[in-house]
Amino acid sequence: MAFTRVTTVTLRELKDRGEKISMLTAYDYPIARLLDEAGIDVVLVGDSLAMVGLGYETTLPVTMDEMLHHVRAVSRGVKRALVVADMPFGSFQVSAEEGIRNAGRFLKEAGAHAVKLEGGREVTELTRRLTGIGVPVMGHLGLTPQMVHQFGGFKVQARSAAAAERLLEEALLLEEGGIFSLVLEGIPWQVAEVITAELRIPTIGIGAGLSCDGQVLVTNDLLGLFDNFTPKFVKRYANMKETITTAFVQFHRDVKAAQFPGPEHAFRLDDAESRRWEQHLHRRRRQVKTFGKG
Ligand code: KIV
Repeated sequence: MAFTRVTTVTLRELKDRGEKISMLTAYDYPIARLLDEAGIDVVLVGDSLAMVGLGYETTLPVTMDEMLHHVRAVSRGVKRALVVADMPFGSFQVSAEEGIRNAGRFLKEAGAHAVKLEGGREVTELTRRLTGIGVPVMGHLGLTPQMVHQFGGFKVQARSAAAAERLLEEALLLEEGGIFSLVLEGIPWQVAEVITAELRIPTIGIGAGLSCDGQVLVTNDLLGLFDNFTPKFVKRYANMKETITTAFVQFHRDVKAAQFPGPEHAFRLDDAESRRWEQHLHRRRRQVKTFGKG
């Protein structure tokens, strides 16, 4: 089927046309394929992998090597969407050189088209350098999960006029640094609305209201696959936990009751080979009877 690849430029065009952008996370090949086939514009391999895929309590522990492994799988499943790889905690904070090396690995070794960086002022210089050498950068402001310990929990940000003003300034700084898009997470919708209007690049909201140029959710949340906790901003579109559990319980029951596999799942010797096998067995049994087992 013919399709046009989504690029960073496409996203800007969508904003200019007033068309919303859809973005979801993927961590493996089958989900990446389904998202792509559903027409999702951007597939993000988020560091949320740490929580919803690897069972950690925060996003902090996931490593570059783990992220690379999952980005590779996702890239193999995506033909149309833009694939964005999340820079995990510790992969870009130590030095710009390390950030550039790690970002480059996502594009060179794992097939990503862009990287996402959490943070504002402190990542502007790195953003400038990355975009200068051809690595597109998606920004991420507001409730940035890599700052969870600094924030004292997963708390909504920019709740005061002063904090909202600081956030707007950081968004403008990032835009100047060359980001092609900005994720706004966990902030009051009025703040997201103003930032979206002030920026030329598209904003993608998660818990940031309807005015953003696009929306993103963690796919496992949307599918009802992750229920350790559910943020207010999550809309559950399916209850896959129930569907999957029902299938597992049914399989378990079928195995215990010898109901699976049925004849339709089994392989059969054809009649001629079956007869030969019978004769072979018959001879074997006679030999055993005559000479004993030893
Ligand atoms: O890691 C992630 O999945 C994210 C999205 C929630 C934006 O950063």
